[in-house]
Amino acid sequence: MPSAAEAGRQLFYGKAGCDACHSGRFQTDQAFHAIAMPQIGPGKAARFESGFRDEGRQRVTGAAEDAYRFRTPSLRNVTETAPYGHDGAYASLEAVVRHHLDPVAALGAYDLSQARLPHLPGARDHMVLADPPEMARIAAASELAPVALSDAEVAQILAFLAALTDPAGLAGRLGVPGMVPSGLPVPR
Ligand code: HEC
Repeated sequence: MPSAAEAGRQLFYGKAGCDACHSGRFQTDQAFHAIAMPQIGPGKAARFESGFRDEGRQRVTGAAEDAYRFRTPSLRNVTETAPYGHDGAYASLEAVVRHHLDPVAALGAYDLSQARLPHLPGARDHMVLADPPEMARIAAASELAPVALSDAEVAQILAFLAALTDPAGLAGRLGVPGMVPSGLPVPR
């Protein structure tokens, strides 16, 4: 019987289909995808705009098909990089993995109270959540198909993700390089 992490690896690169986007050495295709991530916080409105939206890649390219797409994040050391999603919508790794199982349902059921947020007087972090037309646009843009995984399978995927944590790298063992490609001096 394989270890939980190995079973999770097989799911990740198999039935769960995670590697459709989280591919390659760093578990990212470096591309942009819409997965109905709940939008919280101030968003990306410019100073002259009102609103709390963040249309993701579309704000850069102007292309309609890029609406609500965000770059696939690497999953190296992901156990150490909470909170999750471009806006930190999910406090726990399990919650963001579960979001992927049924993104549109998870968007609708999103609970802002679990988010780790600073206490800023007057912050209106829930504005998009309280905006049904915008929520509908985020849901409609999702390109992530639901996938049915048991609780045991989710636990195996979490064990695989934990295996992507590199304690030596986190401890900074590699240190400062002796030289860099530009040839500029490196302070030591
Ligand atoms: C359709 C492409 C796609 C697929 C398939 C996919 N993901 Fe993702 N994943 C993304 C994108 C895009 C984000 C970031 C979304 C955002 O920030 O709005 C993300 C975010 C994450 C995060 C949060 C990482 C962080 O640093 O915030 C985790 C963990 C994750 N995915 C794990 C998985 C797992 C496990 C699977 C398989 C069950 C999976 N993903 C399948 C595209 C995908």
